[in-house]
Amino acid sequence: MTESSFMLEALELAKKGQFTSGTGACVGCIISKNNKIIGEGFYEFFGAPHAEIMAIESVKKNYKNDFNAVIADSTITVTLEPCSKFGKTPPCLDEILKYKFKKIIIGQLDSSQSSLEQLKNSGIEVVIEEIPNELNKGFFKSLKYKKPYIRAKIAMSEDKKIAFIENDKQWITCPASRLDGHKFRAVSDIILTGSGTIKRDNPALDVRDTMITELKNFRQPIRAIISSGSKLDANLKFFKTTGQKILFCSNKEVYKNLDSVKDLEILEIENSRSKIDLLKLLNKLSLLEIHDVLLESGPKLITSFIEADLIDEFIIYIAPKILSNKALSFFEGEDSKNPFNSKDFILSEEVLIEDDKRIIYKRKNGIE
Ligand SMILES: NC(=O)c1ccc[n+]([C@@H]2O[C@H](COP(=O)([O-])OP(=O)(O)OC[C@H]3O[C@@H](n4cnc5c(N)ncnc54)[C@H](OP(=O)(O)O)[C@@H]3O)[C@@H](O)[C@H]2O)c1
Repeated sequence: MTESSFMLEALELAKKGQFTSGTGACVGCIISKNNKIIGEGFYEFFGAPHAEIMAIESVKKNYKNDFNAVIADSTITVTLEPCSKFGKTPPCLDEILKYKFKKIIIGQLDSSQSSLEQLKNSGIEVVIEEIPNELNKGFFKSLKYKKPYIRAKIAMSEDKKIAFIENDKQWITCPASRLDGHKFRAVSDIILTGSGTIKRDNPALDVRDTMITELKNFRQPIRAIISSGSKLDANLKFFKTTGQKILFCSNKEVYKNLDSVKDLEILEIENSRSKIDLLKLLNKLSLLEIHDVLLESGPKLITSFIEADLIDEFIIYIAPKILSNKALSFFEGEDSKNPFNSKDFILSEEVLIEDDKRIIYKRKNGIE
């Protein structure tokens, strides 16, 4: 193995935490000497020791008797700049400075920390080796813009319809596509939908892929509804399913019937033209340290998000079906804003899932 491949290895380790790290960044770390890995670690769950500490601990475990001699002059490769401040755990920087590393290779800088100078001053050779890293988009967007990263997940037919006509409860996409969608729920901090979807489809909105839910430190994302004022029945699956839930509304008084629902918070957000003000909602999410949002709503809410230009990524599942004209179109707004036509988005991925297709559109200019 060569030193340059260790960043790729560290990134693979970081990915191991993607379903469990919660609002913390996914980070991986490799400690190597003479081109051989001697320790590794990743950030597993909110409040856990950081990747660098896990990697140092693994060297201790692997080389019980000659740990100090082995770790001296080794190289530490980490996907994110080590923290220099106290958070849930003490700064990793202090721990790194304790051992006589020869070199540190950092994948991404973190503007909320200030480790670089101290590392350089300590005599460690510091190398920044950026490689494409799709993890932590919400973490970086929140840091820069105080707004979460928003993915919109939509299941549609070839003619871009997202629901069958009234009272027809058939699924549009195949079971494999629907299971695939749970991955995107699992990497999110919150799943957001509108009251229209909750009333018509009665979804639970939880992650039900057992490969993910059975992971040791997996926690269900928060589930949330946006409703300005229409009544919601406490017997809906959303309310009956255990786990943290939020109802964003403009007047709590309307929802007195939900007072006894377990783990439900009802938060008021200002209205704008009798709909929830979405910018105010995003500010609130940012204050709650929610970095990654998955929007799974019907056309009304999606259209509001698209028209306000708030979506960063579209995950679209397309089934080989044509629904009739009576079915609902996914978007009710101007054609130029439609992600299929918009100049601001580019197709970044297209994969087949049985007979369905999953396509992903991302902003041309990255996070905005
Ligand atoms: N295929 C898919 O991927 C998919 C996914 C989800 C849903 N759907 C389909 O979509 C249909 C429901 O569509 P929908 O458009 O009625 O539901 P929706 O977009 O999920 O919910 C719309 C409701 O959200 C509330 N809202 C509050 N603030 C808003 C804002 N700023 N902008 C827009 N809405 C706001 C309003 O309810 P209040 O009156 O309570 O304020 C509004 O009626 C269902 O048939 C469902 O099957 C399809």
